[in-house]
Amino acid sequence: MAKNIAVLGNGYVGLLAAVGLADFGNTCVGVDVNQQKIDTLNAGKSPIYEPGVEEYLRRNLDSGRLRFTTDGGAAIRSSQVLFITVGTPQQEDGNADLTYLEQVVNTISQNINSYKVIVTKSTVPVGTNRWIQETIAKSGHIPGVDFDVVSNPEFLREGRATQDFFHPDRTVIGCESSRARTIMEDVYRALNLISVPFVWCGLETAELIKYASNAFLATKISFINEVANLAEAVGADVHQVARAMGMDGRISPKFLHFGPGYGGSCFPKDTAALVQLGNKHRIPLRVVSSAMEANHKQKERMLDKLEILVSRAFTLHTPTYSCNPLEGKTIAVLGLAFKQETDDIRESPALEIVKGLLVSGAAVKVHDPKAMENFSRIFPQITYCATPYDALEGAHAAVLATEWNEYRSLDLPRASQIMSRKIILDTRNMLNPTEALELGFLYDGVGRGSVGNPISQTSSAIHH
Ligand code: UDX
Ligand code: UDX
Repeated sequence: MAKNIAVLGNGYVGLLAAVGLADFGNTCVGVDVNQQKIDTLNAGKSPIYEPGVEEYLRRNLDSGRLRFTTDGGAAIRSSQVLFITVGTPQQEDGNADLTYLEQVVNTISQNINSYKVIVTKSTVPVGTNRWIQETIAKSGHIPGVDFDVVSNPEFLREGRATQDFFHPDRTVIGCESSRARTIMEDVYRALNLISVPFVWCGLETAELIKYASNAFLATKISFINEVANLAEAVGADVHQVARAMGMDGRISPKFLHFGPGYGGSCFPKDTAALVQLGNKHRIPLRVVSSAMEANHKQKERMLDKLEILVSRAFTLHTPTYSCNPLEGKTIAVLGLAFKQETDDIRESPALEIVKGLLVSGAAVKVHDPKAMENFSRIFPQITYCATPYDALEGAHAAVLATEWNEYRSLDLPRASQIMSRKIILDTRNMLNPTEALELGFLYDGVGRGSVGNPISQTSSAIHH
């Protein structure tokens, strides 16, 4: 039987949960403290760019199964299942900031009026669901009113979130009561019908599955990035290395794409939170710590590569840290989002690149199909361009930082005519290096030691 559900917090994950659960046939009310966001959603517009989400939003608003409100109390009172989807950003010390979650738990405590299943979808440190259970139990809600707490971590990739919501590899549900389990089976009946595997487990196990999964994927990326750096030094082609590694079923080809380092709202914060959790329990997570450090270095390395390219083009000597080849140059950065098909710039490698360029005294021109508005809140002082070619016009060098499809088919002959110097750093290996070299570009990518360009020897010039 379909359920009445309140989705508390309508950021990225909350919006997907609200539209997805309504599409499964449940009646959903999305709650957010931000009135403007609620008005936008009720008007059938998505506040974020995510392919497909607006279509699901409109369809479910039209069906009457979905609405949005700022009145959390009323939504909680009228729903049997409460999904917690507020943000849990990273604090300075690496721990997750649970302020928003605490506020929501407080609102639930004050409004609980009948049996509820409280489902945590936000990524929370191991032990948080147990804490929610104890906090609501202690809060003096109406005596005799019962509730259960369930952990149901999300595994949505931005840019592919609708697909991931409707066709997940698995659904993990930490649930310790048969009453709540029956209700969760109803909530996710649509997934059960298409044979999505369900993992039923304890609260702490579900919480750890989420962190371990993200930390493993982040580690896989850092691993291949370091192999890519080594490939540059030894003259190997990391494309072929990764492809052949991925043919081994035990390794799998997924998440073996090398590049400028991982970003986004999850990998950086979840790896940091897992390491913090390990420290708290005196179980050092050395592999994850190293993956984080390697990722940080990988982002820095992109700037080092650019410095080397520019100094070569301007026939300076091998750069030293006292001589800054980027000073006074105009650099075009194509791609600001942390990956393609999103307007999200959280922890995007482009942030590090632009910050470094500005510190070096370069002028920066940028383009991104979706993320310029978000980026301009952090860097209002740089030049935002309507097309990639506007950004390239007069630039001494270009950095491709996000793998948007439109950059894959960049018109290199046109770029070669409008740029002031022909220098390209392709951090996502999107372009054809042979074409770039034939057009006279000084080109560098990641992990391509064997493409025959002079920069294949640069890795030995990058000191760490
Ligand atoms: C969240 C979690 O941070 C992350 O751990 C999880 O893995 C994915 O979901 P996200 O949805 O991207 O990330 O968060 P964000 O975009 O910050 O959205 C949070 C929403 O909650 C915002 O719309 C905010 O206005 C809302 N909110 C916040 C509330 O409705 N109530 C509050 O008290 C605080
Ligand atoms: C991630 C997880 O994949 C998802 O399951 C989770 O719950 C939320 O966090 P997301 O951050 O949206 O999703 O994107 P993802 O596609 O995983 O990419 C994360 C970062 O890793 C991006 O910066 C991306 O460019 C980078 N990445 C990904 C690589 O550098 N190489 C790869 O092979 C894959």
